[in-house]
Amino acid sequence: MTTPYEQLGGEPAVRALVDRFYDLMDLEPAYAALRALHPTTLDGSRDKLYWFLCGWLGGPAHYTDRFGHPMLRARHLPFSIGVRERDQWMACMRQAMHERGIEEGDAQGLAEAFFKTADWMRNRAGA
Ligand code: HEM
Repeated sequence: MTTPYEQLGGEPAVRALVDRFYDLMDLEPAYAALRALHPTTLDGSRDKLYWFLCGWLGGPAHYTDRFGHPMLRARHLPFSIGVRERDQWMACMRQAMHERGIEEGDAQGLAEAFFKTADWMRNRAGA
């Protein structure tokens, strides 16, 4: 069975998606609240999301090989995440998928899976 990782085009495609995601976060005023939660330089964030997504999409376990269990919700607790931050994360990822030319059906399926994780990361009530 083909994994989403293979379907997207493996490591170079996942890396390009993550790089576009953080480029957009840096550039687009619409994602300013999301950007403000991140460190000044996004190099570490880029590597971590790239390693994580390779495994999450069914490819190599680069993240867990380095850090063990992701404990994603716990790792996001230092940041105040409400509906606004969740929706900015989703919009930024949708734009990155679109700009990377990911086929619309694949992008929709991935967006639904991303949404579950993004919504689970909320730790602030309301917007
Ligand atoms: C819901 C909105 C989200 C916000 C506001 C958010 C924000 C952040 C921030 C500020 C960091 C720290 C960056 C750094 O240390 O360089 C981070 C780390 C991370 N995020 Fe998110 N994130 C969100 C959703 C997600 C989702 C949906 C995923 C996965 C699909 C994800 C995966 C990760 C990973 C793997 C890390 C690195 C964790 C570590 O090892 O420290 N995040 N996130």
